Amino acid sequence: MFGRVAHRYDLANHLLSANIDKHWRAHTVRKVRDVLLRPGARVMDLACGTGDLLVALEREAGRSLTGSDFCHPMLQGARAKLQRFALRSSLLEADALCLPVRDASLDLITMAFGFRNLANYRAGLVELRRVLRPGGALAILEFTQPPNKAFAALYNWYSRKVLPVIGGMISGAPEAYTYLPESVRKFPEASVLAEMLRESGFAKVEWEYLTFGIVALHVGRVSG
Ligand SMILES: C[S@@+](CC[C@H](N)C(=O)[O-])C[C@H]1O[C@@H](n2cnc3c(N)ncnc32)[C@H](O)[C@@H]1O
Repeated sequence: MFGRVAHRYDLANHLLSANIDKHWRAHTVRKVRDVLLRPGARVMDLACGTGDLLVALEREAGRSLTGSDFCHPMLQGARAKLQRFALRSSLLEADALCLPVRDASLDLITMAFGFRNLANYRAGLVELRRVLRPGGALAILEFTQPPNKAFAALYNWYSRKVLPVIGGMISGAPEAYTYLPESVRKFPEASVLAEMLRESGFAKVEWEYLTFGIVALHVGRVSG
């Protein structure tokens, strides 16, 4: 499914979110800046897709990082984007549920709109916790259910009726944009995800809603 939408992924993203997605990624970079700017910090943007968050992270850090995804066409998009902006981050084709990375070897993991797609959230958190060092951090930026009922009703109408039509027209794969609201509906509420992070060994967990709760940003820190 991701392979089918990769060629139009950026256009659909920016159009369907009215470019707000850029603000969400920039906010994520600011929230993890303390770890990102640690000298020599090892940083991986997981489920990096076509690399928008990776680009923002590399620009802030001023050095090369790593982006990882299991979808080859998405990584091809990321490669082209890095080249276009003369950036140097490396790319790794891997499943986030089984990373070819040693225990306690990363300082920062970011994941934008990727975590929701994992086949098993708890197994995913255990894997991400495994590869983080003491003092490390995990940032998950993800769609969620807006807490305000009236706004949620409006947003659900948009995401069920409008989004699949426009997303389908742009990408030629309407099923991907029917899957999106369905997967958001099945995804744990923000407070539940925070609890899952704690249960998976993240000592300090903070989270916040962005844009009326369309999206939530969770940051979990490993005690160091
Ligand atoms: C909605 S896109 C998000 C891409 C990018 N992070 C962004 O902010 O635009 C979701 C990405 O997650 C990737 N993905 C889903 N499950 C994955 C897994 N188990 N391992 C690695 N990547 C995965 C998909 O291939 C896709 O590129």
